[in-house]
Amino acid sequence: MSRILITSALPYINGIKHLGTLAGSMLPADVYARYQRARGRETLYICATDEHGTPTELAAAEAGIAPADYCAEMHRIQYELGRKFGLSWDHFGRSSSPQNHRLTQRFAQTLWESGFVEERVTQQVYSLADKRFLPDRYVIGTCPHCGYGAARGDQCENCTRVLDPADLIQPRSAISGSTEIEIRDSKHLFLRQSLFAPKLREWIEGKKGEWPLLVTSIALKWLDEGLQDRGITRDLAWGVPVNAMEWGPNPDGLLPDAVGLADKVFYVWFDAPIEYIAATWEWADAAAAEAGRTPNDGDWERWWRLPAAADVTYVEFMGKDNVPFHTVGFPCTLIGVNERRDAEGRWAVVNNSPWKLVDQLKGFNWLDYYGGRFSTSQGRGVFMDHALELLPADYWRWWIIANVPETSDSSFVWEQFQAQVNADLADVLGNFVNRILKFTENRFEGQVPAGGEAGDLERRLAKDVAAKLAELTEHMEAREFRKSATALRQLWVLGNQYLTEAAPWTAVKTDPARAAIAVRTGLNLVALFAKVSEPFIPFTAEIIAASVGEGFPSRWPEPAAALDILESGRTVKAPDVLFRKIEDAQVAEWIARFGGAEAVVEPA
Ligand code: 2FM
Ligand code: ZN
Repeated sequence: MSRILITSALPYINGIKHLGTLAGSMLPADVYARYQRARGRETLYICATDEHGTPTELAAAEAGIAPADYCAEMHRIQYELGRKFGLSWDHFGRSSSPQNHRLTQRFAQTLWESGFVEERVTQQVYSLADKRFLPDRYVIGTCPHCGYGAARGDQCENCTRVLDPADLIQPRSAISGSTEIEIRDSKHLFLRQSLFAPKLREWIEGKKGEWPLLVTSIALKWLDEGLQDRGITRDLAWGVPVNAMEWGPNPDGLLPDAVGLADKVFYVWFDAPIEYIAATWEWADAAAAEAGRTPNDGDWERWWRLPAAADVTYVEFMGKDNVPFHTVGFPCTLIGVNERRDAEGRWAVVNNSPWKLVDQLKGFNWLDYYGGRFSTSQGRGVFMDHALELLPADYWRWWIIANVPETSDSSFVWEQFQAQVNADLADVLGNFVNRILKFTENRFEGQVPAGGEAGDLERRLAKDVAAKLAELTEHMEAREFRKSATALRQLWVLGNQYLTEAAPWTAVKTDPARAAIAVRTGLNLVALFAKVSEPFIPFTAEIIAASVGEGFPSRWPEPAAALDILESGRTVKAPDVLFRKIEDAQVAEWIARFGGAEAVVEPA
């Protein structure tokens, strides 16, 4: 049986995440991880904060504290919010960890020694007012591709094109706003991505039909535009330092210019994906410490290095803006870090890197707020901390996963959120669970009744439930989350329909055996719903499981045995109301607080 390694894109450290970030990576990854564990597969779900780069320096400067202190505090906050949302990371690491410093430096060194990294003198934006270079987001200007006026030097938020600060029209400093800018020489290390193009194209072509079209088309578009070599260092203070490395000579016998590279750090997009591996190393070290064992590299390498990782299926989750970095940038690093270099062509991209490449890449479109973008910088939309002040996590989890932007962008609208949550969670699931359990308490002394024979109604239900459960399982295997949510909702509806038709409250007066089988069937549906709802709404699923005396978390059921969970005589207990309906007055208040349609403004 294959082991499942799951990563979701690492959230930037610079602030609390909005629901769009949750929808585009962390939540679907969590639902998938919970499902895989329920299937009994050995699963590792890794995430971390992405702590380096200009966003961090800018946010720390704004908060008036050192980047290291800012990151420590924000990591704690993001960790706690993630846990409150039920994100079941096996480890939530930090890209500033010692493990990531070591691995990033080791990878860069190996790439240099193999000839895949080289030095170049580049022209960088220098601010006379700020007396410093302005890499990446330190420069703001007009996007040369789409004309968006507040494009950042690394990537245009509007058209997602990756940029170089020097490309921006009318550039200005993000620190001082000054336009007194000149271009100066600065030496940097470059990853020679262009060498990898044929290998990457072959790899991506082979994923057509297997990966979402969104993902393969973004990757191939990048390759079609011609793969550029990429600067992997920056003139910044905060990051993984370049000068601390012990360089060996490259294939030409050259050593990097230690002087020219002093005071530089690696580019955040170079070290961030490496943190997927380093966070696994952090996880293994933490586990060893907890068990009082000496850490062992084999513990994390078995997830990442072949041949030990040969039985691992590696699944990545991310928003579409991240796809280029995961189909091109990170794979170049991993393919290039070939520690079993072959004797013939050291400059050639060989195919025997020991590092595991992604097997399944799940990319998402945008979740918008009333058709405009959620925006961290402009504070538009609902953020994770505020969301939890309003409603428990499962309301958000359910709505987001049922509307996850899989095939196109989708939009958060308060009224639609209210309508869907009230219908699916309160009217269908919550009502069903409460109705049958209250009735069992009132008429069967809170015990699963014995007696009664399954009739046509039960046989038809068993058939329908088995078919729907098989459908749900198939969609979950395929990581089709919207379809999975639809199938799950239809399962809940089957329960309600059955109860209405079987009407044990009528039967109990005339035909106690019929009432017994109806109640026993209904309670088995409750147990089934606890199991299959767990990946989506884990907090509520735990309450439902406890109400019928089931352990938690539970195993994913087999369709044929879906209604054979509870033995008669078992004690059950109705839970408190599972989901309170969202009232119109609440929606009005929240729209006033967070903004509705009028909050959406076109990009400046
Ligand atoms: O787009 C983002 O939020 C990035 N911080 C994602 C990084 S994913 C990985 F490569 F680390
Ligand atoms: Zn643009």
